[in-house]
Amino acid sequence: MNDPKADRFSAVDAEALEQQAMAEITAAATLDELDAARVKYLGRKSELKQALREIRDRDTGMTLNALRERLEQTVAERLDRLGREKLEQALTGEAVDVTLPGDELPVGHLHPTTHIRRIVEDAFLGLGYRIYDDREVETVEDNFDRLAFPEWHPARSPRDTFFLDERRVLRTETSPSQIHVMLEQPPPIYMVSIGRVYRRDEITPTRFPIFHQFEGLAVDRGINLADLKGTLLHVMRALFGPDRAVRFRTHYFPFTEPSIEPDVSCPMCAGEGCRTCKFSGWIEMGGAGMVDPEVFENVGVDPDEWSGFAFGCGLERSAQLRYGIPEIRPFWESDLRVLRQF
Ligand code: PHE
Repeated sequence: MNDPKADRFSAVDAEALEQQAMAEITAAATLDELDAARVKYLGRKSELKQALREIRDRDTGMTLNALRERLEQTVAERLDRLGREKLEQALTGEAVDVTLPGDELPVGHLHPTTHIRRIVEDAFLGLGYRIYDDREVETVEDNFDRLAFPEWHPARSPRDTFFLDERRVLRTETSPSQIHVMLEQPPPIYMVSIGRVYRRDEITPTRFPIFHQFEGLAVDRGINLADLKGTLLHVMRALFGPDRAVRFRTHYFPFTEPSIEPDVSCPMCAGEGCRTCKFSGWIEMGGAGMVDPEVFENVGVDPDEWSGFAFGCGLERSAQLRYGIPEIRPFWESDLRVLRQF
């Protein structure tokens, strides 16, 4: 016979083929490897399948078919085994241990200045005050003139104040908000203005050329110093707890008459005397007083009909006292190691 195919197939050595195929199938370590072995020995183009197609005699047919069945059986078993192994691996290897601690996400919090600001806002909103957001670049007129600063006042000097040009400054206090509000609306007025102010100070542990103030203004009929004291007491207690007391010392400001400096009983030692209050039991909290009639006249409010009080306090200073922070510098340094503590 010179059929080359017949030669080839008669040459199939069933025993050798089985040995080789079985070895490869059982050695398949992954589903891919197993599939490759299956195609190689049982696929359409495999030696075995081609031989089966060409069978001439019954014996060979039975032998090869039996071999095919054994190989198919072994592939099925191997497939089952690998499938279970893979499942097992997924169940054990990828298992989630729900008792492990989770990854910690960095969560921020309010800056202490912002926190204090919100406490102050809440306290005044509760009293029916309006929160007034004002500008930081101010005219000399509203920062000084209308607030009745005398010509000789040192704050008018460029040594104390940042001038942008002859007429404009970075506001040195939140008091010009008093002027703006009174020019904008007639009394009664209850407003609090909170924000940054600027002074030409060297940076030291306790001084910084930028800081925040909160400024209150109440203008109504019959407003007096007792109203001022009650209002400050309310805010100081919101900031430093219900046991705080407030006292007044006389002072001077160009735009209030009389002028006072309010003290709060020391939150650190409850008035006993400590380093923070320099053993006096009291802490100075800013400036205040009754609105000077001259200021009323500068903004067209009749001082015979209306009276009012005003006060201004530092936010950083309040935060320092509330949190026991001895210096002002950390408020501006953005050092998370410090800020995280409050
Ligand atoms: N503006 C004053 C200061 O910065 C504080 C103050 C405000 C005083 C309101 C009286 C009335 O020192």
